[in-house]
Amino acid sequence: MTTSTLRESNTYLYQQVINLITEMRVNGTLQAGQKLPSLRNLSNSLSVSIPTVKQAYIELERQGLVLAKPKSGYFLTQQNKSVQPKKARLPSKPIAVSRQQLIEDVFKSIHQTQNLPLGVANPVAVLPITKTLNRTMRRVMSVMGDKALFYGPVAGYEPLRRQLAFSYMEYALTLGPDDIIITNGAQEALNIALQSVAKAGDVIAVESPCYFGILELIENLGMLALEVPICPEDGLTVQDLQKAINIHPVKACVFSSTIANPMGCVLADDAKQQIVELLEKNDIPLIEDDVYGDLYFTEKRGTPAQKYSKKGLVITCSSFSKTAAPAYRIGWIATHKFSQKCVQIKRAMSSSSSHMNQITLFEFVRTGDYERYLSQLRSVLLTNKSRMRNKLQQLLGDNARISDPKGGAVLWLEFDKSINSAEVFQLALQQNISVSPGTLFSPSNRYQHCIRLSYGLPWDDRVEEGLNVFASICLKAKHNTNNL
Ligand SMILES: Cc1ncc(COP(=O)(O)O)c(C=O)c1O
Repeated sequence: MTTSTLRESNTYLYQQVINLITEMRVNGTLQAGQKLPSLRNLSNSLSVSIPTVKQAYIELERQGLVLAKPKSGYFLTQQNKSVQPKKARLPSKPIAVSRQQLIEDVFKSIHQTQNLPLGVANPVAVLPITKTLNRTMRRVMSVMGDKALFYGPVAGYEPLRRQLAFSYMEYALTLGPDDIIITNGAQEALNIALQSVAKAGDVIAVESPCYFGILELIENLGMLALEVPICPEDGLTVQDLQKAINIHPVKACVFSSTIANPMGCVLADDAKQQIVELLEKNDIPLIEDDVYGDLYFTEKRGTPAQKYSKKGLVITCSSFSKTAAPAYRIGWIATHKFSQKCVQIKRAMSSSSSHMNQITLFEFVRTGDYERYLSQLRSVLLTNKSRMRNKLQQLLGDNARISDPKGGAVLWLEFDKSINSAEVFQLALQQNISVSPGTLFSPSNRYQHCIRLSYGLPWDDRVEEGLNVFASICLKAKHNTNNL
């Protein structure tokens, strides 16, 4: 790329500098560990301003591609290509889930205030929005008075439903307010959606590894889970899904449509379309869990799978828990075909969700505060991801493969099979650190040697120290088993 192409392109200049460096890195001109030109030198040779080069270097640093060394300059970091976790084996057979006790232990550890909560995915903790929400809620109370505290409609506050339906217009989805049902978080949304399409004894296909809340739901509803392995970079493949449904009587699927938890991978839109087509050809409903959809680090947000549905068999579930306030417990279901059934189940399950919290969130979105907040939140999360990933790579070296999430708030660490994550969980807890053991993410104990860590918390000395302690626990655990 020459100076003149830098000027001609429509892309921001600093982004062009980033592209130039990335290209030179990929073609081998620049190598890991190499010092980058000084701000002044690069600004002279590219004929761009020093602040433009600086902005590019800062962004590269945020992405973990460059390391700034005080008084020495900027250096390309070591990117270990083989660090991503491996894909699991092909579809297993459907099995009953039994995770309750371990989930209970992990939840307890998260809520003990003395513990460093690396085990919980609570992205908004990196940038609390308390003041704005408090202000909004006070305004709602003064305008609505007692009405804000009364029971609201079963399906939810109509303006919020309309607003959510409108947000899907971007994907050419013609949903109306009656196609949105407000729930108590995404967990209730998934629960209702599952009950609207399947019953006890049915086989539900899930990603492997899978968010443990979904496994717990399947357990409670007496259904069977069929694990379909996902690729660490690209998520589910249509081939694996095809194999699974050829062999097993899959009644419904629950997949994270955009950003997977715990793997952090993104399902590309064309793969998503093929998956929806395959499922609808076989009349299998897909419940898409889209809670992390807005927390993307990619250029743009992934498309909800529902966009590709022709028969209306895709039910979208999401919430404001990862993007505003988990304690408000406000989520939603978007479906036309199953809306009446979902409202009926919602009524029986919890009558309605907090009216007050719905109105507050409606106002939060309506004023534009939500969009502004989301873009800041994504930026801080991306920075945290790079920091935590770099730090863990330094501490653990070749002992762990670490996911490189394209969104969300968690890292997935894979050790060799000598590590027992349930043991690491207990040892870390003794040091006041809570982590999520990999066993939670599979009903068939596939991930005993994996651990999920959250980078959704403010980065400070406590986190850094906690990671030092966590890494030394892991290395010791590995050493001890090697010496047996
Ligand atoms: C992938 C995924 N789905 C659903 C949920 C549940 O979300 P909510 O807190 O809105 O019930 C979570 C929460 O951690 C999650 O990670």
